[in-house]
Order: sequence, then C-alpha cells, then structure tokens
Amino acid sequence: MLIHSLEQTTLCRGGFRRTALHFKGSHFTSMPIGPASCPQLANCPTVIVMVGLPARGKTYMSKKLTRYLNWIGVKCRVFNVGEYRRSAVKEYKKFDFFDPENKEAMKIRKVFCEQAMEDMIGWLEGEGDVAVFDATNTTRERRQLVLDYCQQEKNFKVFFIESMCDDPEVVAENVKEVKVNSPDYRNMNKDEAMRDFLERIRMYQKSYEPLDTQHDKEKSFIQVHNVGQRFLVNQIQDHVQSKICYYLMNIHVLPRSIYLTRHGESELNIKGRIGGDSSLSFHGRQFANALAKFMEEQDVNNLKVWTSQLKRTIETAGGFHAPIEQWKALNEIDAGVCEEMTYEEIQEKYPEEFAMRDQDKYHYRYPRGESYQDLVARLEPVIMELERQTNVLVICHQAVMRCLLAYFLDKNSDDLPYLKVPLHTVMKLTPMAYGCKVESFYLNIEAVNTHRERPKNTDPLRKSEDALETVPDHY
Ligand code: SIN
Repeated sequence: MLIHSLEQTTLCRGGFRRTALHFKGSHFTSMPIGPASCPQLANCPTVIVMVGLPARGKTYMSKKLTRYLNWIGVKCRVFNVGEYRRSAVKEYKKFDFFDPENKEAMKIRKVFCEQAMEDMIGWLEGEGDVAVFDATNTTRERRQLVLDYCQQEKNFKVFFIESMCDDPEVVAENVKEVKVNSPDYRNMNKDEAMRDFLERIRMYQKSYEPLDTQHDKEKSFIQVHNVGQRFLVNQIQDHVQSKICYYLMNIHVLPRSIYLTRHGESELNIKGRIGGDSSLSFHGRQFANALAKFMEEQDVNNLKVWTSQLKRTIETAGGFHAPIEQWKALNEIDAGVCEEMTYEEIQEKYPEEFAMRDQDKYHYRYPRGESYQDLVARLEPVIMELERQTNVLVICHQAVMRCLLAYFLDKNSDDLPYLKVPLHTVMKLTPMAYGCKVESFYLNIEAVNTHRERPKNTDPLRKSEDALETVPDHY
C-alpha cells in the first residue's frame, strides 16, 4: 500500500510540537502542520477559558495552573483581559463600566477581549501548548465568541474552568486580599474600593449564565464549587485536561508554610563526591540538632516531616517528634555510572558526558541514571501531595530541592539546575495571593559548598547569571 502522508506528534523541549511526515518520492520530509489538522491529535493546542464572577479565584487558578503546567513541561501562558483593559484605559472610573446595559462600555470591553484572544492565538500558533484565557466569560455569547475564534476557526481544543462560590465570606476575603489593591483602585481608599468592587460583581450577576449540563453538554469543562468543596467534570478530551482536573482537585487555599531543606552535610559531601548513601558528617549532625530546634521555635501546627529513603536525610530528621514519612521519590538524582565520583573524576573519565551536561544540564541524563527532567516527573506526586497538605518540612537533596523550588518559584528549566540551595539553610515558602513569600534561614553551622556554577561559555547571551541563579528573599 502506498503511503502518501503520515502524521506524527513529536515531543520537543518538554512540551509538544506538531509536525507531519510527508512522503515525497523516496523519502519522508518533516514539516509543521497547520492547526486545521489538530483536533485528532492528542497534543493539539488547548485554550483554557476561565469562567466566573469577579473575585472567584480565576486569576489565582490561572496563574497556579500555568506554573504547574510549565513545570511539567507543557508551555503555558495566561492572557488576562483585565490587563489589556488597564493598559489601554489608564483611569478606571467606577463599576458601571461593567454594566451589561452600558452599550458603549460593552463595545470597548469586546475590543480588549479580541485583542487578548488575537495575542493568545498567535502564541499558540507559535511556541505555546496551552493558553489560559483569564476573563469573566460569564455570558454564553462571550463564550461562543471564544469558541468561534479558537475552536471553529483555529481548531484548538477548548476547555472551560468555571469557579463558582456562594460563600460571601470567601468572596469578601478575596476582594479584601487582592481586588482592593488592584491598579483600578490606586486612587480610591480601601472602603470605597470594596464598595465599588461589590457593585461590579452585582453588574456581572445581572447577565451571568453559568455552564449548564444540558445547554453545554457537548463542551469540555470543570466546575469548581466553593474553592474545591465539590467538582463537576464534563466531556474530558485528553490527558492534559484530565491532568488539569486532577491538579485542581488537589489544591487548597488554607494558610500554611512549606519548609524545604537539604540533609546535613554528609561524609561524601566532605570528599566532594556526588550521590551515594553516606551518613552525616560531624557538622551534618550539628545541623540535624539545630534544625530540630529551629523548627520547634517556628511553633508550627501539625507539622509533618518528609525525608527521602537515603541515610543522610533520615539522620537529619533524627531529632523530630513530628510524624516522619520517607519517600523514595525524594531520593537524590541518580547519577548512574557517575555515582560517588568527584566532578574532576567525571571530567577525566567521561569528558564527553561532562561537556554534554554543561551544554544542557536540565535534559542531560547520566548514563544509567537520571536527568533533571526525569526528576521533575518523579517528583510530581510529591508536589501533588504537598499541595494537599498544610505545614510540611521536606528534608531532601540538592537536585530534588532545586526541582521543588522551581515549582513554587516558577523557575524555568534553564535556570532550575543552577538554583542555589546551600547546605544547612532552610527555605520557608508561604503561599500569598498570587505567589509565594520566600524566607531563607542559614542555621549557622559550617558546611562545604556543593554548588557548581553554570559554565560561562554555554550561552554568551546570558546577561546576569547571579540574578537568575539566586533565589530571592521575597518572591
Ligand atoms: C476586566 O476588564 O477587568 C475584566 C473583563 C472581563 O473579563 O469581564
């Protein structure tokens, strides 16, 4: 049988790119395929359309979901219609701008919606895998507009996430925490801003049409009720959408802190050898005691302690009375044939491997070992469980801690393997409105430095390495 064309999906730089193999004479050539051929592909670009009244956590979900998808290697970006409005209309006056009966304003708002959509489509036709269209999208008419552009015209998959909340206290808390500090209200005092915003919500309520299991039965969507108390999931199309649902079902908004630290200095650390399963050094044992004392002083409710299954983390948790759980997934990156070698020995014995790692440290996989990319995949269940928990101290390893930090601090895969995570330092991460506050505590016990700098010659375009590699005090 003569094969004229054969489509394939290729995985590229962690995300998905679309290519087609075309049979030409005696050989195949690879060329990008247009979006028209996308829906039958598992990895077709996806538009996530947020739906919900103002102050229902849509932007919170958009940003958090985007950070998660980027971390697992799916290129994702948020397109926020409010930001398009704010950059065009400098002076926000009052809530009646959002009145559905205000025809003039409705026309202007549609323009911003279309601008955001145009940029979003351009991005998905280029490098993007998933785009989050962060707007209220509270009417069927507006959702149809997005479907017409993105699904009918461009053949992207469209997935709706609707956040519904009927708890007035939760809404008021959200308005107080983020909305009154919005640039819209820079010229208003907090009480005025609060009143205006509640009126704004009332304007949207006039024309709100939630997603409906009858009217929208052919659409793919998840409805999140009362910040994760209940979910309704309809017509999931692929693994990306099921991952999104899984993620949304695990996150919560309760106040808490996550503490991350490496094990105390180990015997192999002193010798400059990577990996292995050695015990703590003298200073490492001192750190274990200091860590138990430090955490006691933090006076955290219901603290849980997680370690890897390697001796050095288990010994570091030796002084704790809190429940301790060991995770194999938290074990250090497997350096394969290079386990227990010094960097000098690796360079001498495996010079090509050493050079390849310097070229692309995130994707480089040690022979018979792992890459940072593998490690991120291994750590996904840990992240998911961390999202479900309240206060947790994770005692882990250098590469593992870099991966976990990159998730919480939204660091890309290029910077991730060079994040500075010194020994005997605890990082406290406290989720805030749209990000995470970072506090770093050096416990004043000396330790060797195990950080290997990014080689200077791998990317001449890099401007400030320090700026990229140092985790900021506050994020
Ligand atoms: C806004 O302009 O702030 C939001 C527009 C919308 O999504 O309704």
